Amino acid sequence: MSADTGVATTWKHPDKIRPAAMPGAARIAAAFSRLPSGGKPLGQPPAGSGLKAVPGTGGLPVLGRTIEILFDSTSFSQRIYDRFGPLSWTRGAGVNILLALGPDATQSVLINADKAFSQTGWEFFIGPFFRRGLMLLDFDEHLLHRRIMQEAFTRPRLAAYLQNADALVRSDLNNWPASGTIRAYPTLKRLSLDIASEVFMGGPSNADDARLQKAFIDTVRAGVSMLRVPVPGGRWKRGLEGRAVLEDYFRAQLPAKRAADSDDLFSALCHVKTEDGETFSDDDVVNHMIFLMMAAHDTSTITTSAVLAALAAHPEWQEKAREQSLALDGELTLEALDQLTVLDLVIKESLRLVAPVPSLARKAIKDTELLGHYIPAGTFVSISPWFSHYMKEYWTDPETFDPERFAEPRCEDKKHRFAWVPFGGGAHKCIGMYFGTQEVKMLLHHFLRRYRWTTTPGYQVPWDLVALPMPADGFPLQLHPLK
Ligand code: HEM
Repeated sequence: MSADTGVATTWKHPDKIRPAAMPGAARIAAAFSRLPSGGKPLGQPPAGSGLKAVPGTGGLPVLGRTIEILFDSTSFSQRIYDRFGPLSWTRGAGVNILLALGPDATQSVLINADKAFSQTGWEFFIGPFFRRGLMLLDFDEHLLHRRIMQEAFTRPRLAAYLQNADALVRSDLNNWPASGTIRAYPTLKRLSLDIASEVFMGGPSNADDARLQKAFIDTVRAGVSMLRVPVPGGRWKRGLEGRAVLEDYFRAQLPAKRAADSDDLFSALCHVKTEDGETFSDDDVVNHMIFLMMAAHDTSTITTSAVLAALAAHPEWQEKAREQSLALDGELTLEALDQLTVLDLVIKESLRLVAPVPSLARKAIKDTELLGHYIPAGTFVSISPWFSHYMKEYWTDPETFDPERFAEPRCEDKKHRFAWVPFGGGAHKCIGMYFGTQEVKMLLHHFLRRYRWTTTPGYQVPWDLVALPMPADGFPLQLHPLK
């Protein structure tokens, strides 16, 4: 962690914190958006079905609209929505993609009453690296695994995870400088990987830790590799190698974890049992651990970064949150965290403005119907929490940071059950939602008690949305001692 003397002293209240695509990439994407694009429907509805065809446009031959989707997805979604409405199709990465935009479409796909939308939509992005993780399982098999995994997320287990995470963060913060500028995103990412290693894996040895952290980072990065074949030195190959390292590690540790019941998640997965006596096999434990480590650490890093940025831009909210944290002394339990109600609102609002999983993938595995439209089998489906979170129909002045919108009497998130969906919904709704939120709250609580923080006047995080949101500049943040 670096400290320098360029500490900003003036507070700034930018009205808007809407994340921007990287400027260069957005310009290229905008140029592509001006190219002519024909419009034809996605498949013909069966005669007499009464269903409509989904309108849309494939874009350029071969390339489709890949450039716009990758580098300017937020403006692209808005343009498509303005032209076609909540359902339309486009072409990206060589496949037809159905864009299901807005809470109604999101609800229908996530509730999935017809069991037509499968998690195999995720296979394309992360399949080789996270195969048989909970999110990649479907229907009855998913339900069974979810029921077993739920036993690892009971309140007493969460309380133990939090206690261990809290101890690690307190000791880590002792090594931070009293003031100076940090690159907040990589710093938080390292810290959240340390938390995940401790809380989920029970603290591997130092030598294993560095190797495993590299393997995790390589597997996560591989999903957005442009070149999706294992060429030497390429991301895809490093991802596959990372997966092999993780499999070997978890498999080697299994006998010890099965033999003793400790309070980490790895041990929990080895011992959990449903009322009907269902348990995980060795392969299940390995696959779930690899997915859980990925699912947990990136999302909480993004959320913590987004909250820090919002509170730097809105010092009045930083002060309100600090007041509650300073009033909270002693052991940090789940019950104690419940008292930090200002942070609840601030975290919800940050998750709205910067959804850590901006879009969710599905694939239609049979011909089906969506909002009165015909969807042919084989269609990839993209749902966009990000898009719903900025819709004027549901949110007052959606680009403004305004945590009160989640409080009584406004409760804007209650206008539609699927308007605020940072954790998804339906059968695959995030199983780590509660733990993830508590972890972020715990981190922020310690920052609030130790530092006041600012960014340079007018600063906006340049969120790169090619994969999960990531500050393109590492997010420089100035820390000041409280007293
Ligand atoms: C702020 C933090 C987090 C956010 C925003 C988030 C977001 C999401 C979203 C949107 C999904 C749904 C994916 C889909 O429908 O295809 C999901 C699923 C999942 N998340 Fe999270 N997540 C967070 C933290 C965590 C943590 C801390 C864990 C583990 C401890 C976790 C484990 C999972 C798992 C296992 C699934 C798959 C659930 C299933 O398929 O049944 N997540 N998450």
